[in-house]
Amino acid sequence: MITTTTAKLTFAEIGADEGLKKAIAMDRPTLIGQVSESGLKGRGGAGFPTGVKWNLCAAARSTSKFVVCNADEGEPGTFKDRVILTDYPDLVFEGMTISAHAIGAKKGLMYLRGEYTYLREQLEAVLTRRRKNNLLGEKICGKKDFNFDIEIRMGCGAYVCGEETALIESLEGHRGEPRNRPPFPVDTGFNGCPTVVNNVETLAWVSCIMAKGADWFKQHGTEKSTGLKLFSVSGDCDRPGVYELPLGITVADLMKEVGGENAKAVQIGGASGRCVPANEFDRQIAYEDISTGGSVIVFGPGRDMLDVARNFLEFMVEESCGQCTPCRYGNPKLLEGVEMLQDGRCSAAYLRELVALGDSIQLSSKCGLGQSSANAFLSIVEHFKDEIMGRAIA
Ligand SMILES: Cc1cc2nc3c(=O)[nH]c(=O)nc-3n(C[C@H](O)[C@H](O)[C@H](O)COP(=O)(O)O)c2cc1C
Repeated sequence: MITTTTAKLTFAEIGADEGLKKAIAMDRPTLIGQVSESGLKGRGGAGFPTGVKWNLCAAARSTSKFVVCNADEGEPGTFKDRVILTDYPDLVFEGMTISAHAIGAKKGLMYLRGEYTYLREQLEAVLTRRRKNNLLGEKICGKKDFNFDIEIRMGCGAYVCGEETALIESLEGHRGEPRNRPPFPVDTGFNGCPTVVNNVETLAWVSCIMAKGADWFKQHGTEKSTGLKLFSVSGDCDRPGVYELPLGITVADLMKEVGGENAKAVQIGGASGRCVPANEFDRQIAYEDISTGGSVIVFGPGRDMLDVARNFLEFMVEESCGQCTPCRYGNPKLLEGVEMLQDGRCSAAYLRELVALGDSIQLSSKCGLGQSSANAFLSIVEHFKDEIMGRAIA
């Protein structure tokens, strides 16, 4: 069973719309300067600096701009955005409103994961309350010319639609396929207009940073990975759940926290992340070492790592949008290879070819899905050579 530890989250300490009121009193450069100063990087996985993104969008010339909240949360093993949307939705909408003030947007869109349809009604109720309290709509908090509102649109269960350009395609009513980048959404996003796309957690932290200050945020984490982060922990540990911890924490310390000390390996970053073996548990979870959107899956001593690789590859084969050849054809080939290994039909030489294929998929795929689809397989083969090679025939 998944338990959450939300009572301990910083989000519980933040006064209602404290951050928004402070942000509205600032001019745009000061506001974006505060976000940049905090060192906040995107919590959706890619870790792009939020202040830089907002600055680029603020500088883009257009009469129409958009703020999009990425609430697609499709990465296997991730459920922290669900907790934030359930317990602290105001902080997310507040963060979107702060972003709108920073870039000059009049409209915000939340792209909500299809499986979270059950949350929609309560989120709409929060939006209605915010409109009544003049926190959305015309002249927000009495500020002349600050008009902004938020609409919720539903995703439909495609992992690739979490990728920001596929998400925008889907928001526009098209098939959810990634676009070529550049141009980036900050220049050419929703309906061709400059758009900021931020993760649920990123936006909630923006509200906290505005309320408590950039220096408070920087006290946590490392120099390159400032602040606190939510981790969704599942798998073979005593206390699975959602944890708020500083970035820079080692895998070993995280395992102590969750009761997973005897783990054989930990998958950090979900199906698109990497498998970290026990002899590397002194590594840090941080953008400069092992970066993650927050998915942590613990594998106990009894786990068959080839089964783990197969499971992640099955997911990638299912979720590839099929637009580019390396991802469309490469992942089924890797999966077939793992099945051959399991059946005792794969030679060591063919396994080496599969590793080379994995490298090619990473290099030549069009979007982040394909570029990271072989990560789990490659890291498992690298770190569990004996276990995997032992299955290959001569
Ligand atoms: C296949 C794929 C799936 C993704 N899924 C999500 C997701 O569910 N939620 C999310 O916030 N970012 C997801 N991302 C990352 C987004 O493309 C984007 O970087 C993020 O929304 C930017 O917000 P941030 O800077 O606040 O992290 C995904 C990326 C890829 C390649």
